[in-house]
Amino acid sequence: MKMQSRVGSFGSLEEGKEPHVRITNQPNRPLPLRLLQFILLLLGVAIVFSFLSIYTSRFLKIQNVAPMIQSKFQPCVEEVKNLESWIRPPSTLSHNMNDTELFWRASFETRINEYPFKRTPKIAFMFLTRGPLPMSPLWEKFLKGNEKLYSIYIHSLPSYKPDFPTSSVFYGRQIPSQVAEWGRMSMCDAERRLLANALLDISNEWFVLLSEACIPLQNFSIVYRYISRSRYSFMGSFDEPGPYGRGRYNENMSPVVNISEWRKGSQWFEINRKLAVDIVQDAVYYPKFEQFCRPACYVDEHYFPTMLSIESPHLLANRSLTWVDWSRGGAHPATFGKGDIKEEFFKRIFNGDKCLYNNQPTTLCFLFARKFAPNALDHLLEHSSKYFGF
Ligand SMILES: *[C@@H]1O[C@H](CO)[C@@H](O)[C@H](O)[C@H]1NC(C)=O
Ligand SMILES: *[C@@H]1O[C@H](CO)[C@@H](O)[C@H](O)[C@H]1NC(C)=O
Ligand SMILES: *[C@@H]1O[C@H](CO)[C@@H](O)[C@H](O)[C@H]1NC(C)=O
Ligand SMILES: *[C@@H]1O[C@H](CO)[C@@H](O)[C@H](O)[C@H]1NC(C)=O
Repeated sequence: MKMQSRVGSFGSLEEGKEPHVRITNQPNRPLPLRLLQFILLLLGVAIVFSFLSIYTSRFLKIQNVAPMIQSKFQPCVEEVKNLESWIRPPSTLSHNMNDTELFWRASFETRINEYPFKRTPKIAFMFLTRGPLPMSPLWEKFLKGNEKLYSIYIHSLPSYKPDFPTSSVFYGRQIPSQVAEWGRMSMCDAERRLLANALLDISNEWFVLLSEACIPLQNFSIVYRYISRSRYSFMGSFDEPGPYGRGRYNENMSPVVNISEWRKGSQWFEINRKLAVDIVQDAVYYPKFEQFCRPACYVDEHYFPTMLSIESPHLLANRSLTWVDWSRGGAHPATFGKGDIKEEFFKRIFNGDKCLYNNQPTTLCFLFARKFAPNALDHLLEHSSKYFGF
């Protein structure tokens, strides 16, 4: 490093000396006094500079030399980093890291648990969609006034061009995306991509996966309190006998995943930062699921529930926060439209279940619900204060 700095300074000064050499080789031409003065001045400056550079490289420590070199070759480089520059979220969500690079970057974690600044933990709402977000006006109403407590990420088809106005909280929140197919590993890849992008903001503490057909069922303060005060993350995870549960297990996954460890659960999760990093950095379970869980094994229903149940069972509530109605039967849950949005409908959701919250029984089991058709929006907006308290 010392060598480099010296060679660098001499190199550039020698170039400056070149005309001097050529001119002295031509004795017949008289030297104008001005030029001579100028050359002497240059020489003087050169000597002072080489002395300075020898002096400084000898007496300054290595770490002080490094910025000198940097400032010599990269005059546009940023100022010395202060804490603020490490904790400020990225100013734009666009980047050109591929998944390997992004996941590696997102897996950086601090190992000192106390933050040396006031950190307000945020909920990252991650929307996994094909294109438009028809329920966005309802979400805007839900989020209003809580700007410091959440962030938004959207993964849509790469071909989709969003048209949110600049005033919208959804404006500019699209992450670099790829095609994701239901039931395939590309779907889990999209979810990991959402998690990884959201992890880049150090204030994001909880990560909620949502679809374009999801709606919030409570006001923001209740949602924030419920999630932030929970001892467990809300990942649906259960052991189901029969063809749609254990029947999808493949012996080839053993011994990494054993049949008694095989889990099923809804894709729509809420997890904390630790589990999000575990998912993004996973290289143990991923290859097994990619190779041995293909339709009719729907990998998005098994990969995260199984993996997290093996690694961190004590951190899971084993239930989802997103209400869904499978009672009509078939391969897809019920979709609700305009005609369904009545008071009795929401009473059914709010009073229909009992569950555990921090090991205590409660009837408040769901914070979100799906699936809602775009034509349900107007009714939902109109009655949101009566139904949901916002
Ligand atoms: C990302 O780029 C790196 C470096 O070019 C490469 O090694 C890696 O395989 C790429 N990953 C993906 C998922 O394309
Ligand atoms: C599978 O899990 C069960 C229960 O956890 C355990 O008894 C058994 O030894 C495991 N088998 C293998 C092959 O790891
Ligand atoms: C969730 O299930 C795991 C087993 O997979 C269990 O160890 C854990 O205690 C359960 N969580 C709660 C809150 O009951
Ligand atoms: C949220 O809802 C609860 C219960 O419905 C209510 O007590 C509270 O005042 C509401 N909070 C806000 C900020 O509207």
